[in-house]
Amino acid sequence: MDGAGVRLYRVFGGMETVGLTDPFLLLDFFGSNDPREYEAGFPWHPHRGIETVTYLMEGKVEHEDSEGNRGVIFPGDLQWMTAGSGIFHQEMPKPIGEEDRGLLQTVMPNTTVKGLQLWINLPANRKMSSPVYRDVRRGHAPKVELDGGVVTVIAGKILGVEGPVKAGMTVDPTYADVNLEPEAEVSLKVKNGYNVLVYVLEGRGRFDPNSKTSIPEGNLILFEDGDEVRVSSDKGVRFILLSGRPLNEPVAWYGPIVMNTEEQILEALSDLRRGTFVREKHPLVE
Ligand code: FE2
Repeated sequence: MDGAGVRLYRVFGGMETVGLTDPFLLLDFFGSNDPREYEAGFPWHPHRGIETVTYLMEGKVEHEDSEGNRGVIFPGDLQWMTAGSGIFHQEMPKPIGEEDRGLLQTVMPNTTVKGLQLWINLPANRKMSSPVYRDVRRGHAPKVELDGGVVTVIAGKILGVEGPVKAGMTVDPTYADVNLEPEAEVSLKVKNGYNVLVYVLEGRGRFDPNSKTSIPEGNLILFEDGDEVRVSSDKGVRFILLSGRPLNEPVAWYGPIVMNTEEQILEALSDLRRGTFVREKHPLVE
C-alpha cells in the first residue's frame, strides 16, 4: 500500500535495487477494478531530485500541483514530470464515468484503473533544476508497425523512430510499450553500457534467444550488457522496455525525495518544515 491507501505492486524500488536498475529508482504497477483499492489516491506530497513518469492504461488520474496546474490523464496518456528542485502535487486515480464519454468515445464507463509509475534519478548537477511537467496525450507518441506487432515510442529512439519526450533528458532514457502478436518476434537495439529492463504487462515472451523459458506477465527482466533485446512470443506479449545511462552516483533516499547526500535530505526536510520547499514556479507543458 502506498499514498493514502492505494494497493499496488512494487516491481522494484529502494536502496536494495538501485545499483541494478540505475538510473531507474522505482517502478510501481497499480491496477484494480475495485475503487476502494485506489480511490484514496496519492494526496499532496513533495518530490525533489527525481523525475516521475505516469503511464495510464485504463481509468483516469486527476492531478494537481502547488502552482495551480491541474489536469486529467486518460488511457494511453502519459505524464513525465521533472520534480527537480521541488514540487508538491497530488495524483488521484478515478473510474471512467459518464462525464468522460464526450472525450473518450472509444472507452465505456468502467471502474478499472491500471497504470505504471516509474521514478528516474536525476544527475547530481540537475537535482535542483527547474521543475517541468510534460503531458503526452494518447496518439502523440509514434507507433512503429512491425510484422506482427506495434511499438509505441515514448522516449528514446526505437527502430529509427524517436519518441516525443526529449526536453530535460539527462540519462538518455528509452521508454517504449511493445505489443507482439502470437508467433511474432522483434529485435530492438539498445546501447552498450546502459541498464536495460523489461516489465511484462500481458501474456508471456522469450527474452533470451538461447533459452526456451517464456516469462509471464508481472515479471521484470534485467539484461546483461549488450546491444540488442530479442523477443519472441508464441501466444503474444505486451511489455515495457526501459533503458538508461547509469549515473553511478551516491544515493540518499527519503521517501519521495532522492538526493546524493544526507545533508541534502536534511536540507529538504528543513525546507518542508519552513515552507521553502518549492523554489521555483513551473508551467504545465502539453
Ligand atoms: Fe508523486
